[in-house]
Amino acid sequence: MVTVAISGLGSRGKDTYAKCQHIFPERMRIVAIADPIAEKVEEVREEYGVDPSLCFSSAEEMLEREKLADVMFVCTQDRQHYAHAMKAMEKGYDLLLEKPISPSPDECRKIQETAERLGRRVVVCHVLRYTPFYQYIYRTLRSGEIGKIVAIQAIENVGYWHQAHSFVRGNWRNSEETSPMILQKSCHDMDILRWLCGQPCARISSFGSLMHFRRENAAWIVPERCGRTVPMTRRKST
Ligand SMILES: NC(=O)c1ccc[n+]([C@@H]2O[C@H](COP(=O)([O-])OP(=O)(O)OC[C@H]3O[C@@H](n4cnc5c(N)ncnc54)[C@H](O)[C@@H]3O)[C@@H](O)[C@H]2O)c1
Repeated sequence: MVTVAISGLGSRGKDTYAKCQHIFPERMRIVAIADPIAEKVEEVREEYGVDPSLCFSSAEEMLEREKLADVMFVCTQDRQHYAHAMKAMEKGYDLLLEKPISPSPDECRKIQETAERLGRRVVVCHVLRYTPFYQYIYRTLRSGEIGKIVAIQAIENVGYWHQAHSFVRGNWRNSEETSPMILQKSCHDMDILRWLCGQPCARISSFGSLMHFRRENAAWIVPERCGRTVPMTRRKST
């Protein structure tokens, strides 16, 4: 049985990882939670029977306390991971750390050094490695059954709605405030390709912009906000 403290009760902390308690009730128990949004804290507290005295309004507040669980799930936003992860390791937690570890290479190295120095286990959520079909591909490649890898051609097909809601106007709309898309989305691709190849990355290049996703490129008839379907307002093209 692994006891868990979750920091950040969003799409990952609440809607993805917390649910593992229902799937593996004999292996995982949520004992502490933190999020500034009180409704989320209440929802998770009620659903998983967390002691109210171990419900916090921020990871910072939770980390003021002595170690409360075996593992901390760090499910806050990209630029918050570093501070939460470092403090949690100092407190004695092993980590399930959301990707990307940090947009700063220096912070990534410091997390690794700290984990090694303190003997903490840090699992980064490169979830593709754990999917049965990628594991099958990995085993097939390693077995030599289909010969030597010469090239891999892969595309990250981000759905148009995910692109619009996450990378144009959502949490990851501005790389200065979060992570650039090559890291935020394609860290999964970089991880899986490196893992499948069994070779370190030699070189990488990345370019792109939101040039198309601007007001002047909007169709002449669109709602003011995409969530609103009626009434449609006619807008003059600019
Ligand atoms: N592994 C994957 O496949 C995958 C997929 C999507 C997102 N992610 C990563 O997971 C992380 C979270 O993404 P998300 O989609 O769940 O975001 P989200 O915005 O839904 O959740 C983040 C939560 O953190 C809370 N929060 C903000 N400040 C906090 C603080 N100081 N202490 C505690 N909680 C705080 C927010 O209120 C929010 O509920 C991001 O780094 C993202 O890149 C990983």
